[in-house]
Amino acid sequence: MPESNSNGPAARAAPPMTVPRFVDAKKRRQPLCVLTGYDHLWAGILDTAGIDAILVGDSLGMVVQGKPTTISVTLPQMIYHAEMVVRAVRRALVIVDLPFLSFHVSPQQALRNAGRILKRTGASAVKLEGGLNQAETIRTLTAADIPVMAHVGLKPQSVLKLGGYKIQRDAARLMADARAARDAGAFGIVLECIPVEMARAITAELDIPTIGIGAGPHCDGQVLVTQDLLGLTPEPVPSFVKRFADLRGVAQAAIAEYIAEVRARTYPDAAHSHT
Ligand code: KIV
Repeated sequence: MPESNSNGPAARAAPPMTVPRFVDAKKRRQPLCVLTGYDHLWAGILDTAGIDAILVGDSLGMVVQGKPTTISVTLPQMIYHAEMVVRAVRRALVIVDLPFLSFHVSPQQALRNAGRILKRTGASAVKLEGGLNQAETIRTLTAADIPVMAHVGLKPQSVLKLGGYKIQRDAARLMADARAARDAGAFGIVLECIPVEMARAITAELDIPTIGIGAGPHCDGQVLVTQDLLGLTPEPVPSFVKRFADLRGVAQAAIAEYIAEVRARTYPDAAHSHT
């Protein structure tokens, strides 16, 4: 059985994270810590460790499904993963990505699909890639009281148009996207792969939190793919990723030891067998 999250040290210490509390963190100058989560086991670990928000990112298409991009990820897949995550979480805010083409057709399509995510999973917010080009959709969702996080800079769902995962440097465009998302009612904005000084300027300008990934240290918070920071994903990883552990190495060593012991018939030994 997994450990009980309600007994974890972080869960005891802090009240549940809500959207207003997430936004207030900026006023309190308290850095926001966000990581991706795709399943029950890892969501429980993230939550008890004290993470502020778990993003059920469509990066699961690459990390979990082994696809080259996030383009093929579907709404039912997002709902499937988000349900598992929400079931494990006691404190963190759970934010779920709207996948490619689940919100582009019209604001009404976005409203239906975002509503389906919140109703089916119990998550607290959705994220969508876009700023100025999605302002009407953000406005429609927030008018229905659906909290929306925007995502500007490098938008992985635009990889086919961009021709790769490239740093975005158009300062005027980035600022316009961030302002439009804020004006439309977004409660936060992911800034992905933009120059440090651009992230600093956007963060200074906006009264809602900026969450950086490959955007330097001046954002109000940071987000990473959990499996990247734990050293579970194989190389290469983006240059902004810091490996905080080598769990791939630890897992491979443990599995190699298991294989060796089974082949040597030293496992299971008496201590791990029934009499
Ligand atoms: O899909 C995702 O995981 C993301 C983050 C890495 C920001 O959008």
